[in-house]
Amino acid sequence: MGRSTIAAALALRARGHGNVVSVDPHAPTGKASYAAEHGWRETFAEFTANVARAGVSGFVLPVRATSEEARAAYDGVPIDVLFIDGSHDEEDVRFDSVAWLPLLADRAVVAYNDPYAPGVNRVIREELRSPNFSISNLRHVNNTLFADVRKGARSKPAELLALSAYAYVERQRFKLWKLALRSLFAALGVVYRERKTVPMES
Ligand SMILES: C[S@@+](CC[C@H](N)C(=O)[O-])C[C@H]1O[C@@H](n2cnc3c(N)ncnc32)[C@H](O)[C@@H]1O
Repeated sequence: MGRSTIAAALALRARGHGNVVSVDPHAPTGKASYAAEHGWRETFAEFTANVARAGVSGFVLPVRATSEEARAAYDGVPIDVLFIDGSHDEEDVRFDSVAWLPLLADRAVVAYNDPYAPGVNRVIREELRSPNFSISNLRHVNNTLFADVRKGARSKPAELLALSAYAYVERQRFKLWKLALRSLFAALGVVYRERKTVPMES
C-alpha cells in the first residue's frame, strides 16, 4: 500500500523539497471496484506505516477523501505532476481527468496507471486529446503512461497518432490477457463467463 506515493516522495527527498499530496479515502467507497481491491478494509494505518518506514513522512501530505471531495476543497495551487491511480471505473477516471487536468502548471506531467484497463484506456484516448493543452514525450514505465503537458498549446498530429496507436496496443494487451485467463480456467474445468446485458423484448 502506497508504493507509488513512496516512490514519488523518495524522488522529492533526494531533491530536497516538494510534496506528494495523496488523495485517497482509504475506506470503502461503496463501489464494487474498492471491495474487489481491499474488501471492507480501511487502509490508512497501513499506508501511513509504510510511508513512515520509508522515511518520507515529511514529503507526503495524505488527504483522506475521495477525488471529488478533495477537488471541492482544493486551494488551486498548480500541480506539477498529476498521477491518476484511484478507482479504475471509467466515470471515476473521467472525473479525475476532467477535474484535475485544468489545475496543472503551465508545464507539467500527467501519468495514468494501468492504461490497458478499459475505463482508463478510453479516458486517455478522449481526455488527452484536448484543445486546451498539448501532450508530448509519451512514455510507458512500469504499467504507467506518462506525458508532458503544456497548457495553452495544441498537440501535434504525430503525438495524437502516437496516443491512439499506444492506446490500441494497450487494449489488445488486455484482451490477450483475458483470453489467456479464460483458457487457463477452461483447462482447470472452470467456465469463465462475463455477464452480458440481455436485450428486453418489447
Ligand atoms: C491502486 S491503489 C493506488 C495506490 C497509490 N497509487 C499508491 O501506491 O500510493 C487505488 C486506490 O484508489 C483509491 N480510490 C478508490 N476510489 C477513489 C476515489 N473516488 N477517489 C480517490 N481515491 C479512490 C482506493 O482507496 C485505493 O487505495
